[in-house]
Amino acid sequence: MHPSPFMITQLLILFSIVAPLTFALQATDFYVHDLPLLPKESSSIRMHAGLLPVNPQHHGSLFFWHFEKKYPSDKLRTVIWLNGGPGCSSLTGAWMENGPFRFQDENTMIENDGSWHLYTNLLFIDQPVGTDFSTIDTDSYIHELDEMANQFLGFLDQYIKIFPELLENDIYLAGQSYAGQYIPYIAKAILEQRSALKLRGLLIGNGWIDPVTMYKSFLPFAVANNLVIENSELYDLINIEVEHCEQVLSKLVHVSEEACYPLLAEIVGNGAMNNHHKENQEGRCVNVYDIRLDDMIPECGKNWAPELKYITSYLRRQDVMSSININNNKVEWTGCSPSVHNTFTAYHSKLSILLLPDLLQQIPIILFSGQYDLICNHQATEAMIDGMTWNGGPGFDFGNGTFSPKHPWIVDGKSAGLIQSARNLTYILFYNAGHMVHYNYPRRSRFMLHQFIQLDLTSSTDTTTRKNTKESTRSIRLIAFIVLPVTFVTIALIGLIWFFVHKWHPTKVPTLFSIIRAFRSETRNVEQPQSMAPLLLNDFSANMEVVDSETFV
Ligand SMILES: *[C@@H]1O[C@H](CO)[C@@H](O)[C@H](O)[C@H]1NC(C)=O
Ligand SMILES: *[C@@H]1O[C@H](CO)[C@@H](O)[C@H](O)[C@H]1NC(C)=O
Repeated sequence: MHPSPFMITQLLILFSIVAPLTFALQATDFYVHDLPLLPKESSSIRMHAGLLPVNPQHHGSLFFWHFEKKYPSDKLRTVIWLNGGPGCSSLTGAWMENGPFRFQDENTMIENDGSWHLYTNLLFIDQPVGTDFSTIDTDSYIHELDEMANQFLGFLDQYIKIFPELLENDIYLAGQSYAGQYIPYIAKAILEQRSALKLRGLLIGNGWIDPVTMYKSFLPFAVANNLVIENSELYDLINIEVEHCEQVLSKLVHVSEEACYPLLAEIVGNGAMNNHHKENQEGRCVNVYDIRLDDMIPECGKNWAPELKYITSYLRRQDVMSSININNNKVEWTGCSPSVHNTFTAYHSKLSILLLPDLLQQIPIILFSGQYDLICNHQATEAMIDGMTWNGGPGFDFGNGTFSPKHPWIVDGKSAGLIQSARNLTYILFYNAGHMVHYNYPRRSRFMLHQFIQLDLTSSTDTTTRKNTKESTRSIRLIAFIVLPVTFVTIALIGLIWFFVHKWHPTKVPTLFSIIRAFRSETRNVEQPQSMAPLLLNDFSANMEVVDSETFV
């Protein structure tokens, strides 16, 4: 017997329907199995991680790591967290700041008792392309903030195809440092171009938002904190750098201004170290991320905090990489990618501060600062807010001539800082914290998050179940990779039988197409059994890069 061309066509059609169902990426392909060193009490945590394409012609992809929230809450929410740089991995945020775990030593992972994943899903993303686990051909790095935002939208589009649950979540964009540039750009792009996403607010910690107030703040901040003594020789020297910097800024402001780098370098390298190492200051410098600490030139904070070395060796382990679905064993996690840092100049981009007033008309924003960060210090953020006009008034004016006072911010009965709020903008100063506020005060930072998102634990209507365990994910894999091919063969056989039966009883049997249709709707259901929520990112290393290049390159 010879199969007719008609039958071959039908089999080809069948295959073209089944193949994508079997091979297209789906949530189960990103499930994180068997992550090494997980604390026993956390073994039920649900995580998804891996790469999604954003520029396939040039092998561009972004890496994400999603942690599902631990408890039910009043609403589904996802916090997307970004660290800065540019070029620094958001996994620094995940493992050193607000993620579920911390390292105690190289081989011991413990729960972070201030993790943000209790009631909100957390999604950490390495971006832009080329940042750590995120890939790109070496000739295709991006340079500007609007390109970055477009690429990020492309990522979200891919993400939603695989995890459509994100559409049901209130979304918060959060991050620190250079993410103070990324976040307003991404927020604007989402509000204008992806109205299906429920963006509900922004949180920016120690943000590099307005370079002008930031560069101007360094000397006064150094004086206020006794790093430099007013009218000393060093002070006069730095003042000359300040004048040069301001001259350049008065002509044209860039997101990052090379002419201003020396003034920070001078403070870090020659400023007093709060009386540490009085006798032996040779080769020592101030830690730009926390002026209470000192370090050696040229690091000056770059390799801080100590946990960074545990995270680095952990994320370089082959078993860790393979469980987070990084299958290219040539990649090596570095924390910050110098090539991204050097190419992402944002030279033609306007400053993100110019986007804030418009954003504040649409969503609330919280800006928070650690008291002892130098590189993105709180005095600059406060000056920036005072100088900004939004929602019909300047600074913390209520819009009627009275100013919002700074209130003490009390957390767990302790004086944790100051809080000030007007017309959708809130500012919080964290006492005794550095650049990475969550590193110093994880529980206080989570309290801030819960305040901001108006978490209401008295009306828990979120009925998300956690029944989708590892086992069910595995069985879905089984269905996809064993049951589907078997079904395919069975249906092909039915097709053959039908073909011959049809010859004798042309109208009495269901057509192959109707079988396919029925099969297809069934497998669709099988393919989408998961309810998984998206999460959030955060960035810390970005600032380090800023410091590094501004200070010593
Ligand atoms: C503040 O944000 C909300 C959305 O959360 C918006 O509806 C409101 O108009 C904004 N307020 C002002 C004063 O613009
Ligand atoms: C100005 O507005 C604030 C906030 O709406 C309000 O608390 C305050 O009483 C107002 N002050 C005056 C003088 O109207």
